[in-house]
Amino acid sequence: KPIVLSGIQPSGNLTLGNYVGAIHQWLPMQQHSDCYFMMVDLHAITVRQDPTLLRQRTYDGLAMYMACGLDPQQSTIFVQSHVPEHAQLAWVLNCYTQMGELSRMTQFKDKSVKHANNINVGLYDYPVLQAADILIYQANQVPVGEDQKQHLELTRDIATRFNNLYGEVFTVPDPFIPQVGAKVMSLQDPNKKMSKSDDNPKAFILLNDTPKQIEKKIKSAVTDSDEQARIYFDPSEKAGVSNLLTLLSVATGTSIAQLVPYYEDKMYGHLKKDVADAVVAMLEPVQNRYQDLRRDEQAMRQVMAKGAEKAREHTVITLAKVYDVLGFVPAS
Ligand code: AQP
Repeated sequence: KPIVLSGIQPSGNLTLGNYVGAIHQWLPMQQHSDCYFMMVDLHAITVRQDPTLLRQRTYDGLAMYMACGLDPQQSTIFVQSHVPEHAQLAWVLNCYTQMGELSRMTQFKDKSVKHANNINVGLYDYPVLQAADILIYQANQVPVGEDQKQHLELTRDIATRFNNLYGEVFTVPDPFIPQVGAKVMSLQDPNKKMSKSDDNPKAFILLNDTPKQIEKKIKSAVTDSDEQARIYFDPSEKAGVSNLLTLLSVATGTSIAQLVPYYEDKMYGHLKKDVADAVVAMLEPVQNRYQDLRRDEQAMRQVMAKGAEKAREHTVITLAKVYDVLGFVPAS
């Protein structure tokens, strides 16, 4: 069985970008793969978090995972900080990663601008912890959005470098990037990724936004000033419209090629209304399940405890193997 690993930061509530680029791809993988899905709280603190909110959002995120259809019976669902081997392996991998490699990461560059008063070592080291998350499970496939492609390449480089030195210690993972929806754009600036920590809440749709909020945000989505208001798919020329078509395609399960002819003589307002209706309909059952799941923190604690226990069955093995090839003396 292929091993699949992915995660999302509890750095805000989950967005439609997280759903379309990540969770939506994870769902069918549960049937045929050995899946590990986590809330990456260690990654979240690379940017200052409010402790109360961080705790709350970790529960929120886990409840949302399950509401979307991730099944703790089928998959291992857990919180990153509950599995200490992630951080332990990250330390080792730090010693096999060059400063120059990390300096080239575009996410680091972007976040250094956004968080200019707190360019901490963790922010810089973020991709190495991510490499440890993946390599510790010997994952074959990592389903992520387009923005994570560069980090995945680095993970592959680190794994290959380590294997060249010490033998076949790590599986070299492949990224799995969706054909449609790999990069959902901000509704306020369609040249920028939709991000849960955007300062402008109109830029993103949260998975638990009310239907009214969703309608409002899509209605005010920035498009373009094309006088003929043509609707076609071209992410560079028609970024806003293409983003709306992508959302409609994912929410209705209809290909973009099939959707476009229908809008040939329609207005942007018409497209926006259809997108809003489709997104509301897609999220309605998720939101209903979410309310029930989120209420029962006790049950969620059980899911995460069981998940961490299952995860550790694997992580301790990889870490022991790594320590052994490095020449560390075993503790017992
Ligand atoms: N806009 C997006 N389109 C497609 N995929 C996306 N992902 C995030 N945003 C989009 C994918 O979701 C997974 C988890 O991402 P994350 O939350 O851990 O980190 P991120 O990529 O930094 O997401 P955000 O929302 O932008 O978080 P903040 O604002 O806290 O930095 C990844 O697979 C990612 O590709």
